Amino acid sequence: MIMTVSYCCTDLTCGKSPLREEAAGLRCPNGHFFPFVTGTNVPVFACEEEGSNEYAIENAAEIHDNALQWVFRTFQTDEATLRKSLIARLRLSKGQTVLVTGAGAGNDLPFLAEALDTGIIYAQDIAIPMLMSAVERHGAALKNSGVQFFFSASDATNLPFQDGQFDAAYHFGGINLFPDIEKGMAEMNRVVKPGGRIVICDEGVAPWVKVTEVGKMLINNNPLYAFDAPLASLPAMATDVTLSWELSGCFYVIDFVVSKTPSTIDIDVPHIGRRGGTVRTRYFGVLEGIDPAIKARIYAEAEKRGISRVSFIEQLLLRDEF
Ligand SMILES: C[S@@+](CC[C@H](N)C(=O)[O-])C[C@H]1O[C@@H](n2cnc3c(N)ncnc32)[C@H](O)[C@@H]1O
Ligand SMILES: [Zn+2]
Repeated sequence: MIMTVSYCCTDLTCGKSPLREEAAGLRCPNGHFFPFVTGTNVPVFACEEEGSNEYAIENAAEIHDNALQWVFRTFQTDEATLRKSLIARLRLSKGQTVLVTGAGAGNDLPFLAEALDTGIIYAQDIAIPMLMSAVERHGAALKNSGVQFFFSASDATNLPFQDGQFDAAYHFGGINLFPDIEKGMAEMNRVVKPGGRIVICDEGVAPWVKVTEVGKMLINNNPLYAFDAPLASLPAMATDVTLSWELSGCFYVIDFVVSKTPSTIDIDVPHIGRRGGTVRTRYFGVLEGIDPAIKARIYAEAEKRGISRVSFIEQLLLRDEF
């Protein structure tokens, strides 16, 4: 059964309240209004000012086509082959609901629709000209597919969706430029249900390619190629994380499975041996600096008594029970 995913308010004071449809846009219970792009039912939650960058200008999609063509000619890879192989990592099944962030002119949409067969795809981008090109280029064909499509102009770092609304999320080619990469990942992670997969790919020359002349030439050509895969920005509870590279080691690919379960690390397991203590006591129990000669005496005495340094120091400190 196909279920539609409703949009929600992106105003930070509203806490993601659901929106209802009016003739000219969507409105939240607190009155925040998100208009449709004129003549469409594409809601605008956030967008870049017209003319502010290469994606927010009238012929953005054509400029982007040229840039993409350069990429695939340079790395001698067929665009469809690459996109299909990235989408395969989502392990989609029929009937699922998928989010595409920074969807641009929608080059991934037909491949995602093919992988789903039936289901729902939400495509978002912050640049209206790019997004509207996606609608114009793929809208008709996609209408005839078994997949329902919804487009929104919105910010990938503040998505207009409820927690856990998607089975999977996908991004190609824009995250290096997000103002807050960690927030971009956190938002994808928030809206995908536990167990769902997320795939992210962008420019970033692998470390062993970076040191080669070709690596240096690519970075000289376009500084985005110097980006490292943003592993430290992954959600703390991400599981099954995989880092790999595509396009001759020049685009990083991160894929992971969403989890909301904190790790099951026991930080209280005692260490047997000379030092003693646990992960917790060694971290939180660090004392002020003492005379190194006294420290050496304490270590020697612990050794003599055959107990750990931690046990001996704790005994000393608690001897008089304060
Ligand atoms: C290089 S294009 C890639 C487009 C598309 N994913 C593709 O594979 O062809 C990067 C896209 O990311 C979008 N973008 C940049 N920052 C964004 C943000 N904060 N939220 C949503 N989209 C963003 C740009 O508007 C642009 O369309
Ligand atoms: Zn609101």
